[in-house]
Amino acid sequence: MILLSHGQSAGAKRLPNRGASAKIKVGVRFGFSGPVLPRHILMTQPRLDVIAIYPGSFDPITSGHLDVIERGSKMFSRVIVAILQNEAKQPLFTIAERMEMLRECLGGISGVEIGTFKGLLADYAVARNASVILRGIRAISDYEYELQMAHMNRRLRPGLETVFLPAGESFSFISSRMVKEVISLGGNIEGLVPRPVEEHLRRRIGQQKSTTAD
Ligand code: PNS
Repeated sequence: MILLSHGQSAGAKRLPNRGASAKIKVGVRFGFSGPVLPRHILMTQPRLDVIAIYPGSFDPITSGHLDVIERGSKMFSRVIVAILQNEAKQPLFTIAERMEMLRECLGGISGVEIGTFKGLLADYAVARNASVILRGIRAISDYEYELQMAHMNRRLRPGLETVFLPAGESFSFISSRMVKEVISLGGNIEGLVPRPVEEHLRRRIGQQKSTTAD
């Protein structure tokens, strides 16, 4: 991977290592020792002028989702986090509750907005002028289904590309379904979901338990 600073061409130049304060024109990290792009430069890479949709059920949003959204927001000018309205899935949280949780978790991230959709994702993407669908991949087992979806969406709307981001390594085992199961059986979910979501989950699972105990 070659990482370029603003306005540089791909002709990667090796520079003497002049320390972190040196103005590095081109940073390359590709199997040889040389200047490595400092973290703050990575953060300020220009975003692609592209609207991306990050779709899902988000019942509820997990730390893995949040990680993908944060990273996606550094790549694309706008990321629309889109909740699928599908009551057939018997969600734990209503759409309004899921939107509220997303608002609580995404407040500090620029270029991100929240939406909901029904029907085909490809149609929603076109309606929102999005040319990219963003999806996280946790393991190779996710890939097969994700690949099918990507092909289907591109068949439905040629030009609509799917970009996969590998889940952060500390999040690759997390799913909303598993988090709900663990908390409902009394397990610790600290860190698996953003803090406000943990509280919403505790309340909802507590309510469910008191209703079934009545
Ligand atoms: O949170 P999930 O379950 O991983 O999200 C799946 C989602 C919402 C991305 C997927 O079910 C979807 O896009 N549904 C919309 C219906 C659709 O467009 N189907 C055809 C393309 S596969």
